[in-house]
Amino acid sequence: MTEHDPNAESAAVPRHVALVMDGNGRWARKRFMPRFFGHKQGVDVLVRAVNAFADRGVEYLTVFAFSSENWKRPSDEVSGLMGLVLVAVSKYLTKLAGDGVRIRIVGDRSAVSDKLRQAWEQAERLTENNHRITLSVAFNYGGRWDIVQACRRAIADGVRAEDLDEDSLSSRMALAFAPDPDLFIRTGGEMRVSNFVLWQAAYAEFFFTECLWPDFGEAEIDAALAAYAGRDRRFGGIRPNPVVAQGR
Ligand code: IPE
Ligand code: IPE
Ligand code: MG
Repeated sequence: MTEHDPNAESAAVPRHVALVMDGNGRWARKRFMPRFFGHKQGVDVLVRAVNAFADRGVEYLTVFAFSSENWKRPSDEVSGLMGLVLVAVSKYLTKLAGDGVRIRIVGDRSAVSDKLRQAWEQAERLTENNHRITLSVAFNYGGRWDIVQACRRAIADGVRAEDLDEDSLSSRMALAFAPDPDLFIRTGGEMRVSNFVLWQAAYAEFFFTECLWPDFGEAEIDAALAAYAGRDRRFGGIRPNPVVAQGR
């Protein structure tokens, strides 16, 4: 977990953005199209967004693609989403790898097909040495799942109750390789977390937009980053008096 200095000036650009890509179904419905049409468009929008965030200096982008709860959807939508991931990997992996994107998958892989697991592994392997931006795709992911699996790992590793602390859990979380998200964006107008990055978003700044995910582009990215740059992050501390801080 990142150590926060409450007296440090907030960096203008977030290092890590967590993004709930919501609104695909409504976007499709507005066009009298099946929900899948919105998901398909959403993949293309994501590929453009990764590059736009990277161009603006964001180092980590973590996107919510399929939640632990999305299994409750009709089976044809669930299987459509699984198939779409395979199509997306074959369509975009070479491009993303060439663009310097490192891909990580976070979530419970035990419930997905062997084919999908192999596609994830291929994407991670092919991009592991890239450094421009890390795209983490949260798939079959839930913040509560992550906390529970970290606890299980700590127990399996023999961590004693009296030694269990925030760092020993953070280091076992699915996103342990990334600093905590600085900015949490949700498209689609809902103002809720829906079980995304529960532990890691303890001090994230939130930005909610009515924009449906398939309409999300550079203008919305700039609006979110501008809102973030104007936030006063204190991490529980107090903002230092600038005159005193300059030693006058
Ligand atoms: C988000 O869009 C994508 C996934 C959850 C996979 P939705 O499918 O939730 O779209 P809406 O919210 O119904 O419009
Ligand atoms: C959150 O969106 C999950 C993803 C974007 C993958 P949902 O559409 O599933 O969330 P709720 O049901 O509106 O809270
Ligand atoms: Mg939704």
